[in-house]
Amino acid sequence: MKATAKAKAHTNIALIKYWGKRNESLILPTNNSLSVTLDGFYTTTNVSFDEGLTHDTFYLNDEVVEGEQYHRVTQFLDLVRQLAGKPIHAQVRSINAVPTAAGFASSASGFAALAAASSRAIGLDLSDSELSRLTRQGSGSACRSIFGGFAEWEKGEKEDGSDSFAIQIAPKDHWDIRVAAVVLSSKMKKVSSRAGMRRTVETSPFFNGWIESIPSDLEAIKQGIANRDIEQVGAIAEANCLKMHATTLGASPPFTYWLDTTVTVMQTVQQLREQGIPAYFTIDAGPNVKVLYLPEHEQLVQTTLREVPGVTDVKLSRVGQGITYLGDETIV
Ligand code: DP6
Repeated sequence: MKATAKAKAHTNIALIKYWGKRNESLILPTNNSLSVTLDGFYTTTNVSFDEGLTHDTFYLNDEVVEGEQYHRVTQFLDLVRQLAGKPIHAQVRSINAVPTAAGFASSASGFAALAAASSRAIGLDLSDSELSRLTRQGSGSACRSIFGGFAEWEKGEKEDGSDSFAIQIAPKDHWDIRVAAVVLSSKMKKVSSRAGMRRTVETSPFFNGWIESIPSDLEAIKQGIANRDIEQVGAIAEANCLKMHATTLGASPPFTYWLDTTVTVMQTVQQLREQGIPAYFTIDAGPNVKVLYLPEHEQLVQTTLREVPGVTDVKLSRVGQGITYLGDETIV
């Protein structure tokens, strides 16, 4: 038997960050997080399970992938095989329209597309919640990319992780907010988000303060999203991002994902606000900055960000949709 399915998933940017795990192997977080899915950055993945294969293969942008990245994909496929009760190997082909590992959550769109395509190809018929729960075990932030619009990842309480998955807060069409991805460096980051959050949980004295601040941030941002209030959403997202990055400075050894240009872009965004333009930044585990703004300010925001010395590119995005399936085929 040979069964193939293809899926497309968009990346997401967290407005309330996921930063810390309570269980590393099941990927269970220490806090709820909330994100917006972006239509500009996505991964399309084709998974072909074939009884004739003796091992899995993984191609990213038409190149064979080995090492750690390959290992994470096969481990994920093991979960899918186990769930379906079918010990068959697969060929995985992914095309990434996201700069990999530079603070753009390429693992988010990558694992969401892999989960959708592989579960479908192997014959599992999962609900969105079940798919999100499965996706979480590939990469935490990816569980939010199952949904379009705005999604919250409920950390859950159970030790087996059965109640830890994302839910949609508002659909794509709820609010036409825009996100500019400001690219400073497309180099691979030095500390992966996985290693960075582990070091923070284990050593940063600021970690408890971070966790304590989450419930009120979440409540306020959800209210802001419901009211389409960019001042409220932006202010909370920016402050939440700063708190997350502050935990890394308290870690031992200390580290930061910021470069000098990261700080310059942050200051430029604050200057835009002083001129009356509601623009707000957020930053993931890398040096690049994402800026939230409204459609009527697109031209000015884009031009201003492009002029910052050290900025190599500015990519604009709208709110994106959830998983889409692009066809499947079974040959018996
Ligand atoms: C800073 O989802 O990449 O982007 O679960 O270990 O794969 P793993 O981590 P990952 O971490 C993302 C961290 C973040 C914040 C966020 O997206 O919420």
